[in-house]
Amino acid sequence: MSDFYKKILDNNKKWVEDKLKINPNFFEGLSKGQNPPLLWIGCSDSRVPANEIIGAAPGEVFVHRNIANMVVHSDMNMLSVLDYAVNALKVKHIIVCGHYGCGGVKAAMGNSSIGVIDNWIRHIKDVYRFHQNELDAIQNEEDRFNKFVELNVKEQVYDLAKTSIVQAAWRSGQELTIHGWVYGLNSGYVTDLGVNFKSNDELDEVYQLKF
Ligand code: CO
Repeated sequence: MSDFYKKILDNNKKWVEDKLKINPNFFEGLSKGQNPPLLWIGCSDSRVPANEIIGAAPGEVFVHRNIANMVVHSDMNMLSVLDYAVNALKVKHIIVCGHYGCGGVKAAMGNSSIGVIDNWIRHIKDVYRFHQNELDAIQNEEDRFNKFVELNVKEQVYDLAKTSIVQAAWRSGQELTIHGWVYGLNSGYVTDLGVNFKSNDELDEVYQLKF
């Protein structure tokens, strides 16, 4: 057994002991159900652990992660997570959290074929096309990459707001705010991009659903 593999099993035992020392009913309480106020949609990147960077305890954040924190409206996995979070758990906030230095976004700026993933990255390339003038005007490649990361997060916030699930929740008066964040790998800090949607009024009219 590799050292790493053994280490993580040992870590788990130690983690359980530490939790029980503070609260002997910690796991018993959690086993009764969950009522998280937040759905997190983040990147699969190993350096952006959802719970850890926001200091959230078990039970506080419902998590969906994929490459480049994408909200693809035909992705049944994302839709299922979103439906359960909004309609069953009644989360009050959804955060789409991207990060600077994202490999998925970087790949979308280039033309190399990597494999099946090219078809996932395609969705990020669409974001580039929507903002091509703004992005192409940025001479410095690092600055352009950073701006692309931010614009991708914003587009995913819009794409969440466009879903029938979120629009139906707003229509029924449910309290639900969608936020866009970017995480800095080299600083540990998140930046709120200020795209906070609370209703479908802010969407282009063509996307606004009438119920
Ligand atoms: Co990433």
